[in-house]
Amino acid sequence: MDGLTGKVAIITGGAKGIGAATARGLVAAGGRALIADIDVEAGAALAAELGDAAASETTDVTDDAAIAACVGRAEAAFGGIDGLVNGAVLFKDDGLDSSRERWLAGFDCNIVGPAHMVEAAAPAMRRRGGGSVVSFSSIAAKFGQRGRGVYPATKAAIRQLTRNQAMHHAADRIRVNLVSPAWTWTTPIIDAAGGDRAKADRVAADYHPLGRVADAEEVAAAVLFLLSDNARFITGIDLPVDGGYAISGPDQGTPTQYRLSE
Ligand SMILES: NC(=O)c1ccc[n+]([C@@H]2O[C@H](COP(=O)([O-])OP(=O)(O)OC[C@H]3O[C@@H](n4cnc5c(N)ncnc54)[C@H](O)[C@@H]3O)[C@@H](O)[C@H]2O)c1
Repeated sequence: MDGLTGKVAIITGGAKGIGAATARGLVAAGGRALIADIDVEAGAALAAELGDAAASETTDVTDDAAIAACVGRAEAAFGGIDGLVNGAVLFKDDGLDSSRERWLAGFDCNIVGPAHMVEAAAPAMRRRGGGSVVSFSSIAAKFGQRGRGVYPATKAAIRQLTRNQAMHHAADRIRVNLVSPAWTWTTPIIDAAGGDRAKADRVAADYHPLGRVADAEEVAAAVLFLLSDNARFITGIDLPVDGGYAISGPDQGTPTQYRLSE
């Protein structure tokens, strides 16, 4: 992808999944990545794989001192910051029975984390004359589901947080956008499917008109587009990368009259 040469981005949650695919894609496109994750080993291994264009920093996005250290490390290692990907996520969710502790932990990682990351990185992006932030919502934020509470609520909340961040930072040419995946072949789906990709694709075909789960690289491609100069007039949007999940109604594309005439 063009429009990324020389760009420096912090990628929280960058050690695995969509964040790791984004780090690989950014470096392949001539950019540099600071992998900021609580998974120290996976982050260091990915940085070693990517060479001089990457570094890893142990960063817990629920810890403001760690956030400040992460921003300082990116500037020290690469001379500035052009982008931020808020990929760190807590999926844990006990539905509507979730304890107060569980609710607060979900919102701390998935909402307060991205909110504080953006404010911590914004001064460095301003010094570069602008920047781009990409956070994640989810298909989970668009429909009611039984048995879920915390995670979908955080993914709905980030849609409004993103609008406010986009408006607030627009004057400094810092763009803030969302990517909304559906089922993607990363940790939560791999774990739920017991590592069986064929099974995941088969079950996903009922919900995703394109007939399968996404690869992390396919979601990362949208993140990289929004990070790049190709998206320089786009801010405040929520870009679905969901194989058509969100356009499929309860009839799954078969009009009522066809069903009634069967
Ligand atoms: N995988 C899917 O099916 C799917 C669907 C919709 C939305 N999403 C969204 O995509 C984004 C990326 O998810 P993924 O699927 O790549 O997940 P993943 O679990 O594969 O990777 C998440 C990374 O975040 C790190 N992390 C967790 N807590 C952290 C913290 N407090 N501080 C720093 N790092 C932390 C983990 O160590 C891990 O490396 C998330 O925001 C998620 O909500 C994923």
